[in-house]
Amino acid sequence: MRTAVVSAMLEELHAVLALMPDEHKQVAAGREFFLGQLHGQEVVAVLSRIGKVAAATTAAVLIERFEVDRIVFTGVAGGLAPGVEVGHAVVAQCFLQHDMDASPIFPKYEVPLYGASRFDADATLSEELARAVRRALPGTTVHCGLVISGDRFVSTAAENLALREALPDALAVEMEGAAIAQVCRDYGVPFAAVRTISDRADYEAHGDFLSFVRDVASRHSAAIVEALLAGPS
Ligand code: ADE
Repeated sequence: MRTAVVSAMLEELHAVLALMPDEHKQVAAGREFFLGQLHGQEVVAVLSRIGKVAAATTAAVLIERFEVDRIVFTGVAGGLAPGVEVGHAVVAQCFLQHDMDASPIFPKYEVPLYGASRFDADATLSEELARAVRRALPGTTVHCGLVISGDRFVSTAAENLALREALPDALAVEMEGAAIAQVCRDYGVPFAAVRTISDRADYEAHGDFLSFVRDVASRHSAAIVEALLAGPS
């Protein structure tokens, strides 16, 4: 079983690599893929970079070139739904691209020719991931549900409100998950993602985000990955 561990930010990747002392690097598609072992399991760790296209390229290369059996994403997101606060964790059950709009030809949010706007995470892997979060970060509030993705850092009250009104069940917003979910559906590869909430996707988001990723999220990501690969206990 070869697991891909994908991070959007360099700080998070570094924290995961610190758990993989024997890793070696391979370059593909201008990206550095780190192959090694963690708790005796084969791991390919990589930076997705930011945004849907970068994430989709990364996922396709992981599957085609590195033949991973499953993809796990750890990162940060802006909290949207009431009660999804900074420091909480969100495990995605499904994803939607909030900036997909081919209307009036297709319904808003529907990905053309897929007949769907929502792409599910793998239920079994997501449950394992949620258990790993609870083990790694005891006391942390864990939410499970819809995560929305788009090529925009949401940091205005107007966009925040528009998203919450249009998609009231969206727990959190980020910039990669739905793209990876679509690629994984194309290939039939299980995908799960956990996001630590770094900000509330409002006018304070920028400042909160940078300090949070540096100080908290990278530690969370590494602890969650370690718990996941250690297996049930
Ligand atoms: N990732 C973390 N915070 C975010 C935000 N406010 N918008 C989009 N992606 C994010």
